[in-house]
Amino acid sequence: MINDIERILVTEEQLHAKVMEMGAQISKDYMGKDLMLVSVLKGSVVFMADLMRAITIPMSIDFMSVSSYGSGTKSTGVVKIIKDLDVNLEGKDLLLVEDILDSGNTLFYLKNMLSGRNPNSIKIATLLDKPERRTADIYADYSGFQIPDKFVVGYGLDFDEKYRNFPEIGVLKPEIYTK
Ligand code: IMP
Ligand code: MG
Repeated sequence: MINDIERILVTEEQLHAKVMEMGAQISKDYMGKDLMLVSVLKGSVVFMADLMRAITIPMSIDFMSVSSYGSGTKSTGVVKIIKDLDVNLEGKDLLLVEDILDSGNTLFYLKNMLSGRNPNSIKIATLLDKPERRTADIYADYSGFQIPDKFVVGYGLDFDEKYRNFPEIGVLKPEIYTK
C-alpha cells in the first residue's frame, strides 16, 4: 500500500490531536441538545469512530449511504440515496460527518434533503476540506484540515474501494489512478 503513496499529508498523531480537539468543541457546543452524528458511508467511518469517542456528551449515531463518485476520482454530480436514515429526525440536532468536502455537491444535496424532515438543527463536520474545488454553496461548521487539490487516500478515504485501511492521509501517486 505504502508504495502507492506519493507523500503523507496528515500523520496519525496529527489526526488524533485534531479529532480530540473537534470532539471537545462539539461536546461544548451541543451540551443539552439531542446530538445525532450522521455518517455518510463509507469514507467517514474511520473519522466517525474516532470522533464519537472524542465526544463526552450523550449522543446517538446513524448511517446513510449515497453514491456520487463510482470508481473515478471526479464527482459525477449525481447523488443517489442507497441507504437512508433509520430514525425520525424531528427535534434532533444533526451533525453530518464527512471524510472530505470536495465539490460540495454531495453535502449540499443531503443537507437540503434532511432539512425538509424538521430536525432542530443541521450542521456539517468534515475531516478534510479542499476549498479550491468547491462548486456548491456550502461550508463546514467543523473542519479538520484544509488540503490542496490532490487526490488523497487513507483513514477511510478510498480509491476504487482500496486504501481505506491506510492509517494516515496520503497523496495517491497519479499513475495509480491514470493507469
Ligand atoms: P463532493 O460531492 O465532490 O464534495 O464529494 C465528496 C466525496 O467525494 C467524498 O465523500 C469522497 O468520498 C469523495 N472524494 C473527494 N475527494 C476525494 C479524495 O481526494 N480522495 C478520496 N475520495 C474523495
Ligand atoms: Mg468515496
